[in-house]
Amino acid sequence: MKRPLFVANWKMNKTMAETQAFMDEFASYQLPETTDVAICAPFIDLAVLANQKVVATGAQDIYPAEAGAYTGEISASMLAECGVKYVIVGHSERRTLLHETDAFVAEKYHYAAGAGFVPILCVGESLAQREAGEAEAWCKSQLDAVFADAQALPDEIVVAYEPIWAIGTGKTATAADAQEMLAALRAHLAALIGEEKAQAARLLYGGSMKADNARALMAEADVDGGLIGGASLKPDSFLALINEGSALSV
Ligand code: PGA
Repeated sequence: MKRPLFVANWKMNKTMAETQAFMDEFASYQLPETTDVAICAPFIDLAVLANQKVVATGAQDIYPAEAGAYTGEISASMLAECGVKYVIVGHSERRTLLHETDAFVAEKYHYAAGAGFVPILCVGESLAQREAGEAEAWCKSQLDAVFADAQALPDEIVVAYEPIWAIGTGKTATAADAQEMLAALRAHLAALIGEEKAQAARLLYGGSMKADNARALMAEADVDGGLIGGASLKPDSFLALINEGSALSV
C-alpha cells in the first residue's frame, strides 16, 4: 500500500493570525507516522507556515514565468522561499471562475514541476457531464492535456479527482464511484506515462471528504489520499479525517 497523502486546500480562508492559531493547536497533535500531510494555504499564510515542520506546505496556484509584469500573480522563487513543496494546479474553481484552460493548466503543471515543486493536478466533471455519461472521457481529456506530450515528468505524480458536484456540497461520491474513476484514470495514466509511473502516482479523491467517509474511501485500491476543503479548516476535524483515513495503513 502507498503512503497516504492528505492535502488541505484552504481556498480563500484564514488570515495570518488564524493560520497561526490553527498551527498552534495542530502542532500539539500526534499525526500518524505512516501518512503525509500538507496544507495548501493562501499566499500570505505561507509565510506563517514557513516557520513550522509539522506539515508540508503547498500553494494553491503558481504563475508560469520567472518574474515581471504579471499583476496579482506569484512566482516559483517566492513560493520556494516559503518552503513550499506542493502546488495545486487546475482546481475546478480556477478553471470555472478564472477561466483557466487545459493548455494553461498544463503550462503551470510543467512549470511548477520544472521549478522543483510537486504539482497536484486536479481533474473532475460537472454534474451535467456525469449525468450525460461523459465523466470518464472528460477527466481523461484533462489528463491528456497535461501528460500526452510531456517532455519531462516530476518524480512525484499526484492527481486529484474532484467531481465538481461533490465540492463543498456535502455530496460525496461513493467510495465505489471514486474507485471506478480513479482506476480508469490510473489505467489512462499508464497509457500516457507508462505503467510504473502510473502505479507509483498518488491519486487523491476530493469533494466533501471528511472523517465520516475517509476510511471507506481509503479502503479502495486506487484511492491514495484526499484533497480536503471544508473539513481541513478546523484542526480537530482535519486531524479526525487524517486519523480515519490512515487507519488502514497504520
Ligand atoms: P471540499 O473541497 O472538501 O470542501 O468539498 C475540496 C476541494 O475543492 O479541494
